[in-house]
Amino acid sequence: VHHVIAVAAGKGGVLKTTLACHLAVAATARHCRVLLIDIDPQGNTALDLGYRGDGGRSLASALVGDDAPEPIVDVRPGLDVVAGGRELDAAIVSLTRNARDDSALARAIGRLGRSDDLIVIDCPARELVLRRAALTAAGFVVVPSASDLASCHGLADLAATITEVRGAGNPDLDVLAVVAGPIPANATEIRGRVLADLGRFIRDPSLVSPATIRSSQRTAQACRARGLTSEEVATVDPSPAARRLADDWRRVTADLLDRHAHATGVDDGAGGR
Ligand SMILES: Nc1ncnc2c1ncn2[C@@H]1O[C@H](COP(=O)(O)OP(=O)(O)OP(=O)(O)O)[C@@H](O)[C@H]1O
Ligand SMILES: [Mg+2]
Repeated sequence: VHHVIAVAAGKGGVLKTTLACHLAVAATARHCRVLLIDIDPQGNTALDLGYRGDGGRSLASALVGDDAPEPIVDVRPGLDVVAGGRELDAAIVSLTRNARDDSALARAIGRLGRSDDLIVIDCPARELVLRRAALTAAGFVVVPSASDLASCHGLADLAATITEVRGAGNPDLDVLAVVAGPIPANATEIRGRVLADLGRFIRDPSLVSPATIRSSQRTAQACRARGLTSEEVATVDPSPAARRLADDWRRVTADLLDRHAHATGVDDGAGGR
């Protein structure tokens, strides 16, 4: 499971999906085969990456039965996606009934019969059975978070789930990093305080990525509206705002991929090639 990274948080709207999509696309520059699994009934990766999914039908049927999920191939060169969406609601009902079976996604990934170099999972904020299934299938979790009180409560809640999942059969699950954002641009002092607060709260400042995402709602919405990453928008339609947001995401994803390479011992020394 070391090649599986779940993006999870204890709170909604903290850039989980945006991070999962940027990480998956960035990973294609370092890895041959990358798979993004959207296990959220909102299915928002379809918006962010501009693909047409199956509403989560194949993933839902894989979670409750013996099918293999059917990825949508070549959403980007080297990136396939298992789509999420409302069809996952039925799987939630069934998984909730079979409480304590947290390994449904791990088994579904096994049935894919693929040899992906990296799998990124975009977790839902609220559907806890799906989040547990994702964390049970993962080797690492990346946690986007703000540093306000509600976000810290969310972090504590997620930490409790991670402890449970470790105890229930995935002892190697590790936090890869906490990523802060969105942070007002040019607010160096706020940024420093957010990073320090997060480090103190999780009692390990080294887990907080020094790379952060600036607050840039208009640019972010323009990216989602076009189904493009910030880097892709900055390439086709260069504006200073798009460039700056793309640079933030490049630094964050490079830090996460470096940490993952280091943690799994396949450190290529590229440092964000
Ligand atoms: N850099 C940014 N600055 C401000 N807002 C942003 C930024 N990036 C993304 N957003 C906006 O924040 C909102 C939440 O982003 P996203 O969907 O990635 O969060 P999420 O944690 O996946 O949410 P959910 O819990 O609903 O799954 C979106 O409307 C998105 O457009
Ligand atoms: Mg999301």
